[in-house]
Amino acid sequence: KLIASAAIRGAHKLVAQAEEMVEKAIAEKGKDFVFEFPDTAYYLPMVYAITGFPVKTIGDMKVALGFAKELLHDEPEENIWRPYLGEALDSGMATLFAEEIILAIKYIYGLEPYKDPDTGYVYNGFITDTIQRNLGIQLVDGTMPGFAAIIGAAPTDDIAVNICRELQEKNILTFLSGQSKGDSVTKQLQRKGIELGWDTRIVPLGPDTEHTLYALDWAIRASLIFGGKKPGDFKEHLKYQKDRVFAFALALGPLDDIKWSTGAGAINMGFPAICDTEVPVIHPTGVCTYEEVDRELDHSKIVQKAIEVRGLKIIVEKPPIPVAYGPAFEGERIRKEDTFIEFGGQRTPAFEWVRMRELDEIEDDKVIIVGENYQERYNKGGQMPLGILIEVAGRKMQKDFESVIERKIHHNINEAQGLWHMGQRDINWIRISNAAKNEGITLEHLGRIQTAMMKHRFRSIVDKVQVTIYTDEHDVVRLREEARAAYKERDHRLGTLTDDAVDTFYSCLLCQSFAPSHVCVITPERLGLCGAYNWLDGKAAYEIDPTGGNQPVPKGELLDARYGRYTGVDEYLKKASGGAVETLNLYTIMENPMTSCGCFECIVAIIPEANGVMIVNRGFPGMTPIGMKFSTLAGTVGGGAQTPGFMGIGVNFITSKKFLSGDGGIKRIVWMPKGLKERVAEEFKKRAEEAGVPDLLDKIADETICEDSEKLLEHLSSVGHPALEMEPMI
Ligand code: SF4
Ligand code: NI
Ligand code: NI
Repeated sequence: KLIASAAIRGAHKLVAQAEEMVEKAIAEKGKDFVFEFPDTAYYLPMVYAITGFPVKTIGDMKVALGFAKELLHDEPEENIWRPYLGEALDSGMATLFAEEIILAIKYIYGLEPYKDPDTGYVYNGFITDTIQRNLGIQLVDGTMPGFAAIIGAAPTDDIAVNICRELQEKNILTFLSGQSKGDSVTKQLQRKGIELGWDTRIVPLGPDTEHTLYALDWAIRASLIFGGKKPGDFKEHLKYQKDRVFAFALALGPLDDIKWSTGAGAINMGFPAICDTEVPVIHPTGVCTYEEVDRELDHSKIVQKAIEVRGLKIIVEKPPIPVAYGPAFEGERIRKEDTFIEFGGQRTPAFEWVRMRELDEIEDDKVIIVGENYQERYNKGGQMPLGILIEVAGRKMQKDFESVIERKIHHNINEAQGLWHMGQRDINWIRISNAAKNEGITLEHLGRIQTAMMKHRFRSIVDKVQVTIYTDEHDVVRLREEARAAYKERDHRLGTLTDDAVDTFYSCLLCQSFAPSHVCVITPERLGLCGAYNWLDGKAAYEIDPTGGNQPVPKGELLDARYGRYTGVDEYLKKASGGAVETLNLYTIMENPMTSCGCFECIVAIIPEANGVMIVNRGFPGMTPIGMKFSTLAGTVGGGAQTPGFMGIGVNFITSKKFLSGDGGIKRIVWMPKGLKERVAEEFKKRAEEAGVPDLLDKIADETICEDSEKLLEHLSSVGHPALEMEPMI
């Protein structure tokens, strides 16, 4: 069929192009020239996942190109009937290999990420492991149901905007690449002044069809990072992609050979492509088949069609407000000059406070605004005091959930387009943009957002929500005192919640959708390794959905107090990990430590010669004293396996009293990046004092002191680091 012919032709072209580029690069740079994409531990990820071959040099690229050639079929004469997709699919894979090599070589020559010569705009280029891990949680907890690759250009700028807005409102991450008749969706959105980038979830990868490969490279790494699939086990990888990675492509505009062959590559991975021209939808349902679509596929239905074909589950709850709403708008910034009005942020007194009430004490869905001619003052813009009191009641509501609910105020407000929120409690800061004001956003909407979203997010623990908004300075200041007293009481109570004081821990199984054997055991003193869920969150989530991803784990009998081993935890883990984990020690890294999925905030790793551990956080790009960067190290820790000596953790666990308490606690820490030290400093100093080494943080090395273990040892002995005196770790 035509399609097979086109895909095969496209693959031939790209492989020939890659070959030419590789030969040229070998001649100019030598075959031993070392290359890696920015911040990845997976070499050329597509080649690595599918064949297991790690491309480290230009010479290796030539070897990888050989794999692509093996997949090439003879170019058919036009319109030869080909009954199977087999050859097209082989061509698809060959195409992806060739594209990966082409882009790698372009990186070597400084041609990637692509910079638009007219506007100076720099496309994203290769997607780093760090971004992938950052977004991991949203993919697993369903906040982000999937991702779309849009290739080409829409018929008009407005259609491009509409398609992308719809994807944003459905929380689908969108990648842009390719062009059609000299135009592209990227340019169309730019002309319309749409904010592009990770914050708004519309990410231009590059202007050519080949750049779509970056999106597929990110997809294939999901099975390496989260799925723990072995490099080279291509069947497993492709199955994982089909079952767990919810992606689709929208091809806008006429298709050429390269689009066809790239499309065939995407189909190999189980991702359907929906086109707006007269071609069949190609639908991967295990066995690939063609499926006819209505010829008149209207652009207002194209997103819906893609969602149906790929089978995405989308639940969107939108409060009754006149602007767009969803996590895609969470990251938008509102600059000073775009601000209509702001509250708090050290400019005016402000606070936000969630208080539990009895069911008969409040009225559901009620928003009360208190303040002298508040409307007039609001309509003038500028700055205004603001107190937000959210009162909630429910039969299953508990006092402990106040803080869990209060933390959501931030997301609730931020997800509104043109609304921005920062901070919490009495240091919050809110901005409303001119555009949002023009769309009709009022003070009342601030309350409406809360009543709608709190009931949605906390359904079954929150039955009633009433919001009171204070706008007079004396009211805000007076109630802020009351709120402060409540915060203080709450913090005190949190301080008494310890692992020893409770009889139940909570599990988090959310990451099992990506890392099927991984279980986070969340205790009052140890939060989930992604940093997003603590014990109270787990408890609240279980009340909300008793069959959901957070289950109670009765501690059972204490088997080992030092290492933190409990019969109940072990029993639970055996079941929940499908037998992959038999036993767990909560407080040591040396023996049966917690498993890691892929979205840990930090990695703790033993440095045997220093008799201690180092901690490196995600996003730290430099070298560490064990000779591996975060991204490389992360590749050895994830996938749901126990790896003694290595462990993924949440940042806040560092300053927990239970941090490696079985191994000697924080006195074991010998190296941390400077930024991480600063981030934990305040709490860390308290722990250090308790440990009898008040200046411990200063004794811990960082990248400004050393990046290798030899210098590290010199530093440790020169400052008299306590780890050197402790009992041997091994
Ligand atoms: Fe994943 Fe653990 Fe975070 Fe749950 S707590 S989302 S399992 S990392
Ligand atoms: Ni916003
Ligand atoms: Ni995870």
